[in-house]
Amino acid sequence: MAESMKGLHRSHRCTEVSASQVGQQVTLMGWVQKRRNLGSLIFIDLRDRSGIMQVVFDEPVVGAEGFAKAGELRSEYVIAVVGTVQKRSAAVNENLKTGDIEVLASELRILSVAQTPPFPIEAGIQTKEELRLKYRYLDLRRPDLQANLMMRSKVMGIIRSFLMEEGFLEIETPILQKSTPEGARDYLVPSRVHPGSFYALPQSPQLFKQLLMCSGYDRYFQIAKCFRDEDLRADRQPEFTQVDMEMSFVDMEDVLDVNERLIAKVFRETLGEEITLPLPRMTWQEAMDRYGSDKPDVRFGMELKNVSDVVADCGFGVFTGALEAGGSVRGINVAGQGDMSRKKIDKLVEHAKGCGAKGLAYLCIQEDGTYKSSFAKFMTEEQLERLVKAMDGQPGDLLLFAADRDKIVWEVLGSLRLQLGKELGLYDESEFAFLWVIDFPQFEWSDEQERFVAMHHPFTMPYEEDIDKLTTDPGAVRAKAYDMVLNGCELGGGSIRIYQSDVQEKMFEALGFTNEEAHERFGFLLDAFSYGVPPHAGLAFGLDRMVMLMMHADSIRDVIAFPKVKDASCLMTEAPTPVDQAQLDELCLSIEE
Ligand code: AMO
Ligand code: AMP
Repeated sequence: MAESMKGLHRSHRCTEVSASQVGQQVTLMGWVQKRRNLGSLIFIDLRDRSGIMQVVFDEPVVGAEGFAKAGELRSEYVIAVVGTVQKRSAAVNENLKTGDIEVLASELRILSVAQTPPFPIEAGIQTKEELRLKYRYLDLRRPDLQANLMMRSKVMGIIRSFLMEEGFLEIETPILQKSTPEGARDYLVPSRVHPGSFYALPQSPQLFKQLLMCSGYDRYFQIAKCFRDEDLRADRQPEFTQVDMEMSFVDMEDVLDVNERLIAKVFRETLGEEITLPLPRMTWQEAMDRYGSDKPDVRFGMELKNVSDVVADCGFGVFTGALEAGGSVRGINVAGQGDMSRKKIDKLVEHAKGCGAKGLAYLCIQEDGTYKSSFAKFMTEEQLERLVKAMDGQPGDLLLFAADRDKIVWEVLGSLRLQLGKELGLYDESEFAFLWVIDFPQFEWSDEQERFVAMHHPFTMPYEEDIDKLTTDPGAVRAKAYDMVLNGCELGGGSIRIYQSDVQEKMFEALGFTNEEAHERFGFLLDAFSYGVPPHAGLAFGLDRMVMLMMHADSIRDVIAFPKVKDASCLMTEAPTPVDQAQLDELCLSIEE
C-alpha cells in the first residue's frame, strides 16, 4: 500500500549529507537500489539523482512495524526515510561519496512499490539499446544518463548567463515556419485552415535571426530546437538543439572571439579544463590537404601527402590515369605498420572501397629496405625511392595511396586515417583538441542535383574579392564561413552574412534560382534588406554534440532525454503512428496505399 507524504519534507538529497552532520536528523527520499539482511539489521542503498546513501534499519530504533516493512523492500520501491546520521558501523566504502556515513532509520514510509525492472538500474550496463529506449524512463534513472543530463542542464545555464552578460537577448522564433528547402529535407505540418498548404518545422532559426538584426536587436541568442529529416548517424538526430546566435556590426574576429570565450568558460566551469585561447585556425583547403576532412581530428598526425608530382611520370596506370583525369594521388604513412598482415590490408582496401575508392595501393617497407607492394612492379627503383622519400617512409612503415578525384581521395584517406588512428590508439581519448576551420568554398557541386549548392547556406558572404566570380566561376569563390571543430566533430558553424540585396540576388542566381523563385521563397528577406540592414554575422553550436563530447559519450542519444532511433522513430511512445481518418479528413489529406 502506497503511503502518503503527509507531514514529511525531504531535508537533503542522498549525497548532500556529510560526516559533519553526524548526530543530526535527516529526511531522505528516493529509490531502493538494493537491500541486504544481516541478521538483526537490514541495510538498503537509497538512490536519488545525487547518488547513494546507506540506510540501516535496527528493530529497537525503527520499531517492529517499521522493521517488518523494511524487510519487504525491493529494488526500485520509492521510499521516505527519517533517521539520524551516524559514522558507518561496518566497513567504510571508498567508492561512495557518502561511504563513511549512514542513516540509522527511525521511520520508513513506502511511497510506491515497483515491479522488477527489465534491466539493472546501474551504470555501465550491457543491455541492448533497443530495450533501454523502450523503457527510457527507467534507463534515465541510471547514474551515467543522469550525469549526462545534469551536465547538459549545467552547460545550458552557463551559456545563458555568459551570453546575457555579453549583451545578448534571448528571443524565441516560430516553430511553424514557411518551407524554404535548401540543405536538409523539411518536416512538414499540414494546415487545417489552408487545405493543401503546409508549414515546415525549422531546420534552424536562420532567417528569423537575420530579420531580428534588421529590426535592431543587435545581439540575439536562443537555445533552439531544430528539425531535419535526414539520415541519422551517431552524431545526428532528426530533432536536436542549437545554441543559436546572431550579432550586428561585427566582423569575423568578433564572432570567433565571443564564441571561443563561451566555450572556454563552459569547459572551465564544468570539467575544470583550461582551453588555450585563441583557438588555432586552419583554412578549409589546408584541412582537406592535411587531414582529408573539413573537421579534422588534430589529436594525432598521420597527415595526408600529395604525391601527384612524384608519380606523374611513373608506369602505374592507376596513378597516371587519375592525374590525367584531373585528380590527384595522395598517401598516408602508417608508421611502424609495415608488417601488417595481408588480411588486415585487404580490410583497409575494403574500407577504402566503402568510401567510394576504386582501390587502395599499398607499399610495405620491410625492415631490410625491400618492398612488399601492390604496385611496385609498375615503377622503377628510382621512382619508388622518390615516392618513399616524399612520404617520409622508414623501414617498418606502411604507405597507403589513393588515386582519384580530390573529393574521393580526401574522403578515402581521411576516413582510413581516423580508423587507423583509433585502432592503433594514436591519441589520448581524454584530450580536447579544438580549432576553427575557416574560408570554406562558397559552393560545392552536387552530382545528384547537377548544380552548385551552398556549402554553408545561401546567406553566407563571399570574400569581397570573389564576389565577381559568383556567376562566372562559382567553384572558385571562398566564403566567410567558419566551423568550430572538436576532436574531429563539427561542434558549431556560422558565417558573415550577405546584407546587400544585389549580392544576395547574385548568390541565388549562382544557385540556379530564377529571380521569381528567389522572391517567392525569400522575398521577405530581400524586402527587409531594402529597409536598412546592419552588417551581421552569427553561429550555431550543436548543444547535443557538445555535451556528448564533454561526457565522452558514444552517441548523441546518450545526452538527449528522449531520443529517436535510426529510422527516426521513438521506441517508447512508438511515434510516428497512423492517425484517425477523421484527423486526415479535417486536413484534407488522404494516404495512398
Ligand atoms: P549548421 O547546419 O552547421 O548551421 O548547424 C549548426 C550545428 O548544429 C549541429 N547539428 C546537429 N546536431 C545534431 N543532429 C543534427 N542532425 C545536426 N545538424 C546540425 C552541428 C552543427 O555544427 N543556421 C546555421 C548556423 C549559422 O549560420 O548561424 C546552421 O544551422 O553541431
Ligand atoms: P589493378 O591494376 O586494378 O589490379 O590495381 C592495382 C593496385 O592498385 C591494387 O592494389 C588496387 O587496389 C590499387 N588501386 C586500384 N584503383 C586504385 C585507386 N583509384 N587508387 C589507389 N589504388 C588503386
